[in-house]
Amino acid sequence: MPWDPAQYLRFAGHRLRAAVDLLNRIDADAPEHVYDLGSGAGNVTALLKQRWPKAEVTGVENSGPMLERAAASHPEIDWQRADLATWTPPQPADVIYSNAALHWLGDHSRLFPRLLAQLRPGGTLAVQMPRNFDAPSHTKIAEAVRSGPWRIRLEPLLRPPPVREPAYYLDLLRPEADEDLDIWETAYLHVLQGPAPVKEWTKGTSLVPLLEALEEPERTQFEERYSDLLEEAYPRRPDGSTLFPFRRLFIVARRRI
Ligand SMILES: C[S@@+](CC[C@H](N)C(=O)[O-])C[C@H]1O[C@@H](n2cnc3c(N)ncnc32)[C@H](O)[C@@H]1O
Repeated sequence: MPWDPAQYLRFAGHRLRAAVDLLNRIDADAPEHVYDLGSGAGNVTALLKQRWPKAEVTGVENSGPMLERAAASHPEIDWQRADLATWTPPQPADVIYSNAALHWLGDHSRLFPRLLAQLRPGGTLAVQMPRNFDAPSHTKIAEAVRSGPWRIRLEPLLRPPPVREPAYYLDLLRPEADEDLDIWETAYLHVLQGPAPVKEWTKGTSLVPLLEALEEPERTQFEERYSDLLEEAYPRRPDGSTLFPFRRLFIVARRRI
């Protein structure tokens, strides 16, 4: 059960909103080398190419299924298979963009200054990461992990919340960033449809490594247990919709000239 582009794209419209909000905050007229880190199915990378058609846009990803989907849909873009933990561009970048990916990597105290240093002076680092790890969508994952026979296999895969508070990134980036360093949070209220939509949402992201570690029938049993735990936190409303509040952190930093 590796990353599944179809599952991830089930909520493409909702997920796209933050990607576009981030893109709109980048002030760059004619960048030459643009990188999308953790480019997934490539639909967001395509927006970067649309905005800067003359730029050489590269999507960087380590999931085979995601890359295949991206390359099939967008042959006009360069695709690179690499691990972001060690990735470096062949030349200094003008824009490094990353939507909903860097929370999968640890040690942000080294990662973020390293990414800023991969830019040419004046280049832009633009990052969005979820910061919803204390919401039931995520806390109930740990609860489900600890409440079944799968605990011994799944508990070592649980990670502490990977994204720190906004001021942490401000202090981290300020020494090498321009004065217009911009960090903010937005809480989106997603109105979802269909049965168990919050479970279906995390099934495309946070649940991936956990489901991958299980075989049937435990995989389905674990999924059902998690889904039951979510019901109280995200009740279905009389009109059939389910409200899913989701907080995200945004960073736009220009490398100091
Ligand atoms: C939630 S998806 C976001 C995809 C895309 N940026 C978007 O906004 O639709 C996160 C992506 O990051 C990729 N990813 C996670 N860790 C990675 C790593 N260490 N190196 C490269 N890609 C990674 C995953 O494979 C996945 O496709």
